[in-house]
Amino acid sequence: MKRLIVGITGASGVIYGIRMLEQLKTIDSVETHLIMSEYGKLNVEIETTHTPEYVESLADVVHKVDNQAASISSGSFKTDGMVIAPCSMKTLSGIAHSSAENLITRAACVVLKERRTLVLMPREAPLHLGHCKLLYEAAQLGAVIAPPMPAFYNHPQTIDDLINHTVGRVLDLFDIDIGTLKRWEGTEYCPEKPPEETNSRLSAAPLAQVGAK
Ligand SMILES: Cc1cc2nc3c(=O)[nH]c(=O)nc-3n(C[C@H](O)[C@H](O)[C@H](O)COP(=O)(O)O)c2cc1C
Repeated sequence: MKRLIVGITGASGVIYGIRMLEQLKTIDSVETHLIMSEYGKLNVEIETTHTPEYVESLADVVHKVDNQAASISSGSFKTDGMVIAPCSMKTLSGIAHSSAENLITRAACVVLKERRTLVLMPREAPLHLGHCKLLYEAAQLGAVIAPPMPAFYNHPQTIDDLINHTVGRVLDLFDIDIGTLKRWEGTEYCPEKPPEETNSRLSAAPLAQVGAK
């Protein structure tokens, strides 16, 4: 049984955290611990047709963002790591500076100090130098920076395809495979051949519709 902490903060793209919880709910082998910031909850209302209560219902354990006495606030509570999806620049700053001012930045700090996997899905555009520095500093501390940048080699047809692929690639970082990812399996690229004769291959799995509403 794996144990994964999912943080949802107030950056645009809360759907990534929601979809991750929806996908993880379809398998029994992962226990999810959810923390949503106040702006994370607000963005659930602004950006999706869901409610924060619905998002909480997807998790096995829900923690209040101001509860520094939660289990995940201690390194002695074993987890496989944490994903922050999406990660605001404010939360990124808190992680880069080890501020631990709320349970999201504290849990992230614990995951780093225990040498577990911390994956940040930062979202802001454009980025100024301060944002770039924070990403660099977080990476130096050991965080995996996985911005929600869509891939197109898998021929996405819908926004759900884009979201599911990005979420699937992040779950790969925890060795969690829910079996819906279209994986690239190589191409026999030949510069002399026209593109239509290039034999590109993808794994047979259909484009993921898990959690599609
Ligand atoms: C609709 C909306 C979209 C936002 N998008 C972003 C964003 O993409 N990136 C970001 O860093 N902040 C964004 N913000 C601002 C953050 O929500 C704000 O800085 C907040 O204080 C972050 O706090 P948190 O990290 O505790 O959730 C957005 C706010 C709103 C209301």
